[in-house]
Amino acid sequence: MQTTCRKATLEDVDTLYELIKGYAEKGIMLPRSREVLSRQIDTFFVAELADEIVGCGSLCKLGADLVEIRSLGISEGHKGQGIGSKLVDCLLDEAKRRDLPKVMALTYEVNFFKKNGFEVVDKEIFPEKVWTDCVNCAKQHCCDETAVLKMLN
Ligand SMILES: CC(C)(COP(=O)(O)OP(=O)(O)OC[C@H]1O[C@@H](n2cnc3c(N)ncnc32)[C@H](O)[C@@H]1OP(=O)(O)O)[C@@H](O)C(=O)NCCC(=O)NCCS
Repeated sequence: MQTTCRKATLEDVDTLYELIKGYAEKGIMLPRSREVLSRQIDTFFVAELADEIVGCGSLCKLGADLVEIRSLGISEGHKGQGIGSKLVDCLLDEAKRRDLPKVMALTYEVNFFKKNGFEVVDKEIFPEKVWTDCVNCAKQHCCDETAVLKMLN
């Protein structure tokens, strides 16, 4: 069965909420309320397998040429099948389409991102990030995630 990626719609909010909540409870993703998801639904993409949502990811604009991959997660039982990479490709295509050449992420999954062409960079080069998500993060002053960046040509 083939996985397809598409833009999320308001009908996906409950599924996205549950998927992200599962990872947020494990401390590997920031939680997103249903209200926030509804408001930001245009930034989300989902991966579908036989009409079931098995993954999600979003693209948040941080600056004139910089965008961040957020809330990237594949449901348990569907990891390691290339779905995460497919979603990343889809998010990179969207960044390209919107003429946003710098794509970054803050992550614990450094090797996954390296496999997808990202390189590790110093977090300090992204002051824009601090004023969006980081201000709401409990680990704001002891961030243990790694920054990764991909430049699109
Ligand atoms: C990280 C995550 C998105 C990867 O998605 P996935 O669908 O399992 O990954 P893929 O199957 O596309 O893997 C692509 C490649 O990366 C490798 N890879 C995947 N996860 C990896 C990991 N944790 N460490 C090292 N390599 C990894 C795979 O082996 C594969 O390599 P290959 O192409 O040589 O076979 C998924 O495991 C996940 O949801 N993790 C929990 C949430 C999370 O941490 N998200 C990141 C937030 S920024």
